[in-house]
Amino acid sequence: MWCWLMKTPSTFINPIKQFQDFLKKKTEITPIEEPFILEWKYVQEMTELRRIWAPVGSTLFSDMLFIYNAIRKHNLKKGIEIGSWYGYGIYYMSHALKRNDGELISIDIKPLKARIRSICIKNCEIIKGDSKRVLPQFARTDVDFVFVDGDHSYDAVSKEIEILSKFQNLKIIFFHDMYPTSPAYKAWVDHCHLLNATEDELFIMDDSYYFFDENSPWKRYTGALKLKK
Ligand SMILES: C[S@@+](CC[C@H](N)C(=O)[O-])C[C@H]1O[C@@H](n2cnc3c(N)ncnc32)[C@H](O)[C@@H]1O
Repeated sequence: MWCWLMKTPSTFINPIKQFQDFLKKKTEITPIEEPFILEWKYVQEMTELRRIWAPVGSTLFSDMLFIYNAIRKHNLKKGIEIGSWYGYGIYYMSHALKRNDGELISIDIKPLKARIRSICIKNCEIIKGDSKRVLPQFARTDVDFVFVDGDHSYDAVSKEIEILSKFQNLKIIFFHDMYPTSPAYKAWVDHCHLLNATEDELFIMDDSYYFFDENSPWKRYTGALKLKK
């Protein structure tokens, strides 16, 4: 449906109306929380980026759309990504942050591929190291959001949540691969109290909500917590 929407000349359809109708229909199936509702202008922005360059990533376009929209909507200026891999997240998050006059820090134990892929991106610093060692250095800074997408084991995510609980200015934490049977989700359930949150407060974005067929096997489930401050 999305491809069709993009390819059809705008003289034949009103894309904004189409999009609003589409979201309305989806919202009836899966209610979405206000802080994360997509705005058409940000969907357009990110779609333009996709036309220019679509690098490989373990996150899906819909995961990045969800995060891109939140960065722009909440005017987030400084973010940290745990797990750079090939720089797919870097590409989209850096562009969103650039439009907010912001910057990204991406941490990876093996950042070589991301460094090569992100060579033209000026507002992202890639730091080589283990998140457990690097992340605490930013606890007292003005970091607005963190995207947790490194080692998805129970122990690693538990430790990262513990470290993030000491961050002073965080507004949103995004977690990748937050489906009910994932070790990362179990780590969340067992440690969410450290973030002054309950299990249910994590908004989980099922990728099928954004542009994917309900029966698609390609689902990665990004979770997002808006911190109470
Ligand atoms: C799922 S990939 C990240 C995908 C990326 N965020 C994207 O959008 O395409 C996971 C990455 O985390 C890195 N990683 C694994 N354990 C880590 C750790 N303890 N600290 C930092 N990075 C880690 C891996 O080297 C790998 O590149």
